[in-house]
Amino acid sequence: MFVLAINASPRINGNTDILIDKVLEGFISKGCDSEKIYLDKLNIAAYRDDLPQDDFNNVLEKIKAADILILGSPIYFGSMTAQLKTLIDRFQSVWEDKIFRGLNFSHKRQKGIFISVQGDKKSSYFDNARSIIKNFFAVTGIEYSNELFCTECEDKQDVLNNNDLLQEAFEMGKDFSF
Ligand SMILES: Cc1cc2nc3c(=O)[nH]c(=O)nc-3n(C[C@H](O)[C@H](O)[C@H](O)COP(=O)(O)O)c2cc1C
Repeated sequence: MFVLAINASPRINGNTDILIDKVLEGFISKGCDSEKIYLDKLNIAAYRDDLPQDDFNNVLEKIKAADILILGSPIYFGSMTAQLKTLIDRFQSVWEDKIFRGLNFSHKRQKGIFISVQGDKKSSYFDNARSIIKNFFAVTGIEYSNELFCTECEDKQDVLNNNDLLQEAFEMGKDFSF
C-alpha cells in the first residue's frame, strides 16, 4: 500500500507537517510505503490556456500511483492555501477527460484523507476547504475517507500541545482500513 502525502503549507515543520507525519507514522507502523511532497517547493503554474512545462505532471503521476492520498493544508483566509488550490485547478484536464470523454483518472480504488489546521476556534471555518477537497476527490474518483482538523493552532508547532490529536493522527494511519 502506497501512501502519498502532500503538504500545502509553506511552513516546514509547522502544524500541518507535524500532523501529516503522525498519520504517516501510523501507516508506516503497519508496513505501508510512503512519500511526502512539499508543494511549496515545486514549480506549479496557475491554470491558463498556454501552460508551461512544470512540476505538475510529476505530481499527477504520483497521485495516480497512490492508494491513499493525504492532502494537508492550513486555513488561509477561510480556505486552503493558494499552493493547494493551484494544484487542484490544474486537474481541469482530468475533469474534461471525465465529463467529455468518459475517461477515469485512475482504474484502481483510491482513498483520501484531508488534514487542516487553523488559528481560530470555530471549526465551521474548515467547511469551505473541505468542500473544495470533496469536489477534487469526486473528479478524480478518490473516496473521501477521513479528516483531521486542529483549531487554535496559530503559532508554529502549536499542535504539539494537543496530545489527544497527535494520538488520533497516529491511530488514523494505524487503523486505516482500505
Ligand atoms: C496568510 C494567512 C492566512 C490565514 N488565515 C487564517 C484564517 O482565515 N483562519 C484561521 O483560523 N487561521 C488563519 N491563519 C492561521 C494559520 O491557519 C495557522 O497559523 C496555521 O497553524 C498554519 O499552519 P502551518 O503551521 O501548517 O503552516 C492564517 C495564516 C496565514 C499565514
